[in-house]
Amino acid sequence: MRVTVIGTGYVGTVTGACLSYWGHRVTCVDTDAVKIAKLRNGELPIYEPRLDLLLSAAAKRGGIDFTTDLTEAAAESDVIFIAVGTPPLPSGQADLRYLESAAHGIGASMDKSRFRVVVNKSTVPVGSGNLVETLVREGVRKARPAELKQVRFGVASNPEFLREGCAIADSLYPDRVVIGAEDDATLEVMRRLYEPLIEQRFDAPDFMPRPAGFVSVPLITTTLTSAEMIKYAANAFLAMKIGFANEVANVCERVGAEAVEVMAGIGLDGRIGARFLNAGVGWGGSCFAKDIQSLLYTAREYGYQMRLLDATLEVNRAQRQLVIQKLQEKLYILKGRTIGLLGLAFKPDTDDLRDAPSLQIAERLLQMDARVKAYDPIAMKPCSERYPELKIQYCESALEVAAEADALVLVTEWAEFRNLNLAQMAQSMTRPILVDGRNMFDPETARHAGFNYTGIGRNMQQHRFTVDGHAKSTVAQEL
Ligand SMILES: NC(=O)c1ccc[n+]([C@@H]2O[C@H](COP(=O)([O-])OP(=O)(O)OC[C@H]3O[C@@H](n4cnc5c(N)ncnc54)[C@H](O)[C@@H]3O)[C@@H](O)[C@H]2O)c1
Repeated sequence: MRVTVIGTGYVGTVTGACLSYWGHRVTCVDTDAVKIAKLRNGELPIYEPRLDLLLSAAAKRGGIDFTTDLTEAAAESDVIFIAVGTPPLPSGQADLRYLESAAHGIGASMDKSRFRVVVNKSTVPVGSGNLVETLVREGVRKARPAELKQVRFGVASNPEFLREGCAIADSLYPDRVVIGAEDDATLEVMRRLYEPLIEQRFDAPDFMPRPAGFVSVPLITTTLTSAEMIKYAANAFLAMKIGFANEVANVCERVGAEAVEVMAGIGLDGRIGARFLNAGVGWGGSCFAKDIQSLLYTAREYGYQMRLLDATLEVNRAQRQLVIQKLQEKLYILKGRTIGLLGLAFKPDTDDLRDAPSLQIAERLLQMDARVKAYDPIAMKPCSERYPELKIQYCESALEVAAEADALVLVTEWAEFRNLNLAQMAQSMTRPILVDGRNMFDPETARHAGFNYTGIGRNMQQHRFTVDGHAKSTVAQEL
């Protein structure tokens, strides 16, 4: 099939690459000419592991190209995806201006030559499917008023659940595909489009083998409204789950329990599940806060207050302050102290800094007249470019961050931080204080290396946690 994907960000580029890998002919469109020029040159405007490999494989299969010209691409397509940003407005409401402009542009490019499906892949509030239909129609009316009645199209909602950092695996081997549509013709087109994925009828790439026993993907078909709601409810639940782990961890710290052990203990309950229970300095990223705010806004429009979600935002805000409190407990005075941040990206394996806890932590420390040093394997350049007001001293390595620092804060659990020479780092510091904001290190090992260690919800008591009689020190990861 001929497919256009509008928006070449984290979602659009991966979606385009996957669709083309499955054999469709894809054109990716963006208004950002710099991004398009980079993609045409084989460069990636974002950091996503193995996306370069997928794009080259895709080019040899269905074929993929990049342009700023929506009109030509959409006119030739059977399916047109909208994957533009939907950032929050100060009111919490989703800013739909990019979506609206894309929908108008699609309408302006449509003629009566074929039936087309316009797909909302962006996370959009309930009712946006109908809005897109209206906007596309307006676009047609403006460009070809005489053909308005003959132009045929359907609108589908196909929310995206990929996680940055593992977006390729999430897209090739997802937990489910959700498609909302109001008519059979639209649904049929979407079913055909996703058949290779649903039935796993594609050769797994060498760089991303198919998980053992993975033979098909559940396809959920719903109304437009339910599909839109599924996306918001999923993100809200995940954020709430982490928030719950953080609240329990804060109580663990007070009563002398070990949060890591408690989470492992509850995570083995099939009704709860072990993932997203790691206590830390709070969640971040472009989606959770904005999607919760947007869902809260929608609920308020209907006279309903979602108290659990209000609390989820509040718990997360407080959790980010916890690092500052812990530093104050250890150092008393932060003015003039040098604090080293390990990691800046909102999570490992991405360069994305949107709503990253590191930004708020750095900002607060700088306000308090502390010096801030930082090292991140990928996100330092975007951080210095996008947040020049944050006077952070960027370092070449974690060891350089540690040198003569008064305290280190582990903010992002990059895999390379697991193999640090902790003893060497502790020795090079003015005060060997380590605030482990992701409970990544084994407290015993860190203490042994010379660190004055503190985690989130950890009490530094002797580990007593065993599973089937085997002692576990980093239970969260192992489970
Ligand atoms: N990033 C994620 O992990 C993730 C996961 C699931 C869902 N989502 C949702 O997917 C959507 C896109 O997110 P993202 O992170 O890829 O955003 P992004 O900011 O990385 O990319 C959006 C792109 O759209 C382009 N754009 C804006 N208006 C345009 C227009 N009229 N025509 C063409 N291009 C246009 C921008 O230039 C930008 O390159 C959002 O609604 C987001 O909530 C994101």
